Amino acid sequence: MSRDDACGKRPRLLVVANRLPVSAKRTGENSWSLEMSPGGKFNLLGGVTAQFDTKWVGWPGFDVYNEVEKNALSKSLAEMKCIPVFLNEVFDQYYNGYSNGILWPILHHMGLPQEDDHDDTNKTFQTKYDAYKKANRMFLDVVIENYEEGDIVWCQDYHLMFLPQYLKEYNKKIKVGWFLHSPFPSSDVYKTLPSRSELLRSVLTADLLGFHTYDFARNFVSTCTRILGVEGTHEGVVDQGRVTRVAVLPMGIDPDRFIKACKLPEVIQHMNELKDRFSGKKVILGVDRLDMIKGIPQKYLGFEKFLEENPNWRDKVVLVQIAVPTRNGVSEYGKVKNQVHGLVGRINGRFGSVSSVPIHHLDRSVHSNYLCALYAIADVMLVTSLRDGLNLVSHEFVACQEAKRGVLILSEFAGAGQSLGAGALLVNPWNVTEVSSAIKEALNMPAEEREKRHRVNFQYVKTHSAKKWGLDFLSELNDAFAESEMQIRK
Ligand code: G6P
Repeated sequence: MSRDDACGKRPRLLVVANRLPVSAKRTGENSWSLEMSPGGKFNLLGGVTAQFDTKWVGWPGFDVYNEVEKNALSKSLAEMKCIPVFLNEVFDQYYNGYSNGILWPILHHMGLPQEDDHDDTNKTFQTKYDAYKKANRMFLDVVIENYEEGDIVWCQDYHLMFLPQYLKEYNKKIKVGWFLHSPFPSSDVYKTLPSRSELLRSVLTADLLGFHTYDFARNFVSTCTRILGVEGTHEGVVDQGRVTRVAVLPMGIDPDRFIKACKLPEVIQHMNELKDRFSGKKVILGVDRLDMIKGIPQKYLGFEKFLEENPNWRDKVVLVQIAVPTRNGVSEYGKVKNQVHGLVGRINGRFGSVSSVPIHHLDRSVHSNYLCALYAIADVMLVTSLRDGLNLVSHEFVACQEAKRGVLILSEFAGAGQSLGAGALLVNPWNVTEVSSAIKEALNMPAEEREKRHRVNFQYVKTHSAKKWGLDFLSELNDAFAESEMQIRK
């Protein structure tokens, strides 16, 4: 597609996501700090903005009720190409309640949460669902205020499943894309969701739907055929002659950012300190949000089994786990935190000594330069997600391993397992014996084999960047929109 419109201007793109690519924190009345957040889908920014005049629409990160404050914050964010959606009192039930309390577990094959009183469950379900719809309408209002004819609107993720329908109802000429960053489950799991049909019907109004893997796309299409009785074709979903195109487009990172970071003096200094700190030991690294889907308990059980069966390794290996706190408003996250803490205590108690601690568990995030140093010095990266849309952490590790050629152990249930599987050791995280054996194999792997595996994955990470992902999606969206315009004219 031609990236320029007739006047030679860049086409306008509105990316709508729950979070803005800016981490905003309130520091006092009428004051806040704003910082660009690197990583995740925000990688898109660097890659796509050269060709598209891009603006982000999203929740700013905290409540703002006062009109003066709203105007001031909007002005500061505008300088960063961001437009806030003030969700305020709707936020809790929309984000903690429906998006992360109901949709997130369903999409990750975990089923609906159980509550003791059935009536209460239905009542709270309805409240959460209503808040979710209301929040989606609030996103719509902000998009409409900023929309200009010809704009592309790209909706991101499970938080915004009603937005495509609301946009098309407002104006069916808007080019609408939607990308799901999480898995899409099999229809047997998805169909337990009370609001199953409405959500599917809404996303199907978009012109293009994107998924990270072929499996997620296939699950989505067959779920639509089973629940809605529509037709699934190689192109996507057909309902009464209208085609909604479905594409498989795995996301990537900005590899150069990580490759360059590993050469920064500050990162090299962190690397040297870490090498001294762990001298004589191999380092296994884990970096995850502390989410049940990340399988941190399963990771610890696999590591415990490894220490149990390989006493010769006990004081020669450490597992460093960065467990970034997340979604504190959802009770399930508190439970997994307690479970993980219990396991760390047990394993360190069983296998530690006065001079050596097997698991270094951190309940916090670390600075991006420190993270790059950890990625670069690690001998093994251990990713044991029980389900994961993609897992960009595995890409980041590979990008930082040009000097070391460490081994990636990767869950077969992470989307990245389908793209980095050739160079990684794939494991079923539920099988502790398999995880333990993979740790042993990784620690003993000869340099030649590590080199071979690293090369394959490094090549993939370099070529399948976030920029490519973004541009490919937008190009397909353009084609899909043009095709549906033609269908309408026929
Ligand atoms: C997943 C979701 C993203 C989300 C991220 C962090 O990757 O797909 O949409 O932004 O988790 O979660 P949070 O709830 O902190 O935004």
